[in-house]
Amino acid sequence: MEALIAPSILSADFARLGDDVNAVLDAGADVVHFDVMDNHFVPNLTIGPLICEALRDHGITAPIDVHLMVDPVDRIIPDFAKAGASYITFHPEASRHVHRTISLIREHGCKPGLVFNPATPLTWLEHVIWELDMVLIMSVNPGFGGQEFIESSLAKLRQAREMIDDSGHEIRLEIDGGVKVSNIGEIAAAGADTFVAGSAIFGSDNYAVTIAELKSEITAAVS
Ligand code: DX5
Ligand code: ZN
Repeated sequence: MEALIAPSILSADFARLGDDVNAVLDAGADVVHFDVMDNHFVPNLTIGPLICEALRDHGITAPIDVHLMVDPVDRIIPDFAKAGASYITFHPEASRHVHRTISLIREHGCKPGLVFNPATPLTWLEHVIWELDMVLIMSVNPGFGGQEFIESSLAKLRQAREMIDDSGHEIRLEIDGGVKVSNIGEIAAAGADTFVAGSAIFGSDNYAVTIAELKSEITAAVS
C-alpha cells in the first residue's frame, strides 16, 4: 500500500488554517489529519465539524482523516460526514457499542477506523477487523501534540500488521504521535503505511523539505 503522510493540523497556524493546510498539501502531504478533542475524553479542546466544512469550502479536496477523541462519539458522526470527512476514527473506550459505531460511520459514507491508546489491547480487532478501513495506533497518550514517541508502539504496530495481513482485507495502518524524520524509518519497517506528523511538519521551516525527508526515510526502510 502506498505510504501516506498525514500532517496533524493540531500544530498548524489556526489563525490562517486554510492557507496553512493548502501549503502543507502543496508541499507533498497526502491526507489532512484532523484532531477532535472534547475536554472530557482527553484533557484538551480543539475543533469540530464547522472547521472541517470550512476547509472543504476553502477548496481542500485531499482526504480528511477525522480522529475523534470525544465521548460519546455517535452523536457527532453524522455531522462530520456532512462536513466532508473521509475517514472517521474513534477510540473503543468512547463507544458503548463499537460495532454499531463502525456501522454508523460507514452508513454515512465515510471510512471507519479504530484507534488504540498505548494501553489499549488490540484484541478488539479480533471481532471487528473486517469492518474497518483503518487501524490507528497511538504512540503517545492522546490530547496534545509534540509528545515523545512511546517505543513499545513498534511491537504493537508489528502485531497489528500481522492481524491486518491475516484478515486479507485492505486496511490502512496508521501511527499517531511523536513521528519525526529520525524515527519514521523504524516505524515504517514495523508495518505502518499512514504516518501522522504534527509538530515535525508544522514546526519545521520548510514543509516540502521535511515531507520529502519523511518520505525518503520510509522508502529506505521498506525497500
Ligand atoms: C494527539 C493527536 C496527534 C498529535 C500528533 O492526541 O492525536 O495527532 O497532533 O502530534 P505530534 O506529531 O506533534 O506528536
Ligand atoms: Zn490524531
